Amino acid sequence: AATKTAHAQGAAFPQRTINIIVPFAAGGPTDTVTRLVAEVMGRDLGQTVVVENVGGAGGTLGAARVAQARPDGYTLLLHHIGMGTTPTLYRRLSYDPVGGFETIGLVTAVPMTIIGRKDIQANNLAELVALVRRDQVKINYANAGIGAASHLCGLLLQKAIDAPMTTVPYRGTGPAMTDLIAGTVDLMCDQTTNTTSHIRAGAVRAFAVTTAQRLPSLPELPTAAEAGLPGMEVTVWHGLYSPKGTPAEINTRLSRALQVALRDERLIQRFADLGTAPVAQNEATPEAHRAFWQADIAKWRPVIQAAGQYAD
Ligand code: MLT
Repeated sequence: AATKTAHAQGAAFPQRTINIIVPFAAGGPTDTVTRLVAEVMGRDLGQTVVVENVGGAGGTLGAARVAQARPDGYTLLLHHIGMGTTPTLYRRLSYDPVGGFETIGLVTAVPMTIIGRKDIQANNLAELVALVRRDQVKINYANAGIGAASHLCGLLLQKAIDAPMTTVPYRGTGPAMTDLIAGTVDLMCDQTTNTTSHIRAGAVRAFAVTTAQRLPSLPELPTAAEAGLPGMEVTVWHGLYSPKGTPAEINTRLSRALQVALRDERLIQRFADLGTAPVAQNEATPEAHRAFWQADIAKWRPVIQAAGQYAD
């Protein structure tokens, strides 16, 4: 009877609201991506998918919450490239940053933009580099904590410019953007899902995009390589996770709903407006996601070790 009940429950998944934890503040890039995906997934699953923001400590607080949640498919994590950098950046965590999770599927890969407050004394990337070299720690660089994409981009930027800046950490780049627009911080590197509308409105000054090619959504913006920093290449991949031990058939069902979301016309259009695109359908699977994640940990490990900046 127990087996029968378990089978019946598995077949009926989901029976109630699903929570997706975003490990950064509301209104930021991860939140924006997650809300678009959650809405369509909810329609496919026939249940509401709620987004909960658990920001702080570069995404590790939200990730910890999910690693420690019941592995029943009702608590999920939508996290980004930080899943690839955190295992190296943090020597002590309250959860296992790799073994604590099942993968469900990749979601998207988002370009980043190097942006400054609109009245910063630099008109292009070369002038910005000169300004940072001159003023160094007087320049305030906003990020979302160690493990955030904005933190990783800052590491690459500092390596390329070879001058220390002062870091100002936030719970996400949503609130960091508010301060950059207000001019209380000077500089940030953040995903196009958060920066595109502000760049277009002239609320911040954009210097470069961190991809090999220019973006159709911001065609005037040079690549970092074109503008003089050839090493500055990074895109922020996102993936959906469940706690370790979540039954495979539940992860498969969630993966199917994710695939439905990623071929939704409205979502694709919205992603394009924000300078990104969904991954291919065969990447929105547990297997492709896990392989990509493992390769990404290996990719960033030497970069982080060379920078020598850890969380402890
Ligand atoms: C966010 O959602 O706030 C961002 O993804 C933060 C970051 O990683 O820079």
